[in-house]
Amino acid sequence: MKNEIYFQNTEQGYDSVAVEYARQFFDELEHKPLDRDLLQRMAREVGELGVICDMGCGPGQVARYLKDHSAEVVGLDLSEGMLVEARRLNPDISFLAGNMLSLSVPDSSWVGIAAFYSIIHIPRPQLPDAIQEFFRVLRPGGMLMLAFHAGDETLHLDSWWEKPVSLDFNFLLPAEIRRQVEQSGFNIEDVIIRAPYSSEHISQRAYIIARKPTLE
Ligand SMILES: C[S@@+](CC[C@H](N)C(=O)[O-])C[C@H]1O[C@@H](n2cnc3c(N)ncnc32)[C@H](O)[C@@H]1O
Repeated sequence: MKNEIYFQNTEQGYDSVAVEYARQFFDELEHKPLDRDLLQRMAREVGELGVICDMGCGPGQVARYLKDHSAEVVGLDLSEGMLVEARRLNPDISFLAGNMLSLSVPDSSWVGIAAFYSIIHIPRPQLPDAIQEFFRVLRPGGMLMLAFHAGDETLHLDSWWEKPVSLDFNFLLPAEIRRQVEQSGFNIEDVIIRAPYSSEHISQRAYIIARKPTLE
């Protein structure tokens, strides 16, 4: 029950700010050289092998970038408002409603998952379940790319761009997430930390890139 309310709050919060979020962030990759490099790597390494999911896609800027680099993509989000924006801005990409903790797709569906700033909204005790779900839906050899705010605090917003919301942003310790990713069965390829760009919220940014092992 507690969880149900938490996810309702997250969904409603993003529904309320979806239009403004899209306005502020849809073009953000123009100013994020490391994100562009990492997404190009994903498109190059797995983009021709199947579908990559932009997990917690928001307005779909990650899906857009991957598609523009020749990858086959789909986006998934909890918030219908965000999905409306994603579909409006990317009419050539499919977007699905869903909760990353329980995905309605069969095992081994995707060759990549790019989850940028979306696992920050999963209650901390359930993070291992989300990562295990990513492992299930990735094909052997599939790539997982996580981006998140590094730290251990939780930022709570009751209002965002003058809309009432109830949203928790969990900053996450890279070593802890790395351990959870490894414990789910992934092989870690890279853990990268960078300072924020001047245009960003002042927080260290962490990226974890991992692979589901191929079958022997
Ligand atoms: C901070 S935004 C990030 C959006 C986009 N990936 C980006 O980098 O700008 C977080 C997104 O995750 C979505 N989200 C939060 N919890 C989710 C869940 N349990 N399953 C799927 N999406 C979720 C929100 O609706 C929101 O669109």
